[in-house]
Amino acid sequence: MNILFMGPPGAGKGTQAERIVSEFGIPHISTGDAFRLAMSQGTALGVEAKKYVDQGLLVPDEITNGIVRERLQQPDADKGFLLDGFPRTIAQAEALDEMLRVMGRSIDHVINLAVDRDKLLARLTGRRICKSCGATYHVIFNPSKAEGVCDRCSGELYQRSDDTEEKVGTRLDEYLTKTAPLLAYYEKQGILRQVDGEQEIDTVSKDIQTLLRGQA
Ligand code: AP5
Ligand code: ZN
Repeated sequence: MNILFMGPPGAGKGTQAERIVSEFGIPHISTGDAFRLAMSQGTALGVEAKKYVDQGLLVPDEITNGIVRERLQQPDADKGFLLDGFPRTIAQAEALDEMLRVMGRSIDHVINLAVDRDKLLARLTGRRICKSCGATYHVIFNPSKAEGVCDRCSGELYQRSDDTEEKVGTRLDEYLTKTAPLLAYYEKQGILRQVDGEQEIDTVSKDIQTLLRGQA
């Protein structure tokens, strides 16, 4: 199954992706995670990406498309994939359609996690992530059992550098101007499915699974 997760920053894409990939046995391809990994390793890609990510701006399409093209060619993506945070511009969506066409593949479902803008700031500024395994928590909505420590691996939890109030504002503006128009793009293709992302985390997961299993 080939799936795209759409939705504004903080809609719950990463949280839900973790669950869906383990359920369906497909790789989770997150361009945001790829940039953060490259940034932490200080590679040429990381140095370039940091200029944009740290300001809450989108990384240029050519760089981002190249990463996805390479990743989709890895053998583990043969059985399907979940793309999280890509595409984010019409140009990226067109590039993805072309990549998949060449591979003789197509997107099965585009899941849009809908959450109102006023809820996103609280979600993002309260987010904490495990340094070791990448698990996502929230200080209020999804806290770890011991403060600052991952339930899963006892790793240390940290706050993303772009989860400050100021950067979140820029990220939301980027989303509205460049990414939101993609919803109409996929609606036209008849593959867009809406999920209410304001519900409890478990309820959102159930709704997504029902859609993906074709029962809705
Ligand atoms: P990226 O890492 O993709 O960030 P994003 O889209 O801003 O999304 P987030 O990871 O912030 O949110 P999410 O929807 O995954 O929410 P989460 O599940 O964590 O991109 C970062 C940057 O990289 C971009 O700004 C850009 O610079 C660059 N980039 C990446 N892709 C790019 C591309 N294609 N083109 C160009 N540049 C690109 O949840 C958020 C919080 O809410 C968590 O604390 C969670 O616990 C909590 N939560 C989740 N669900 C619920 C719920 N139902 N109720 C209550 N709380 C909840
Ligand atoms: Zn962990």
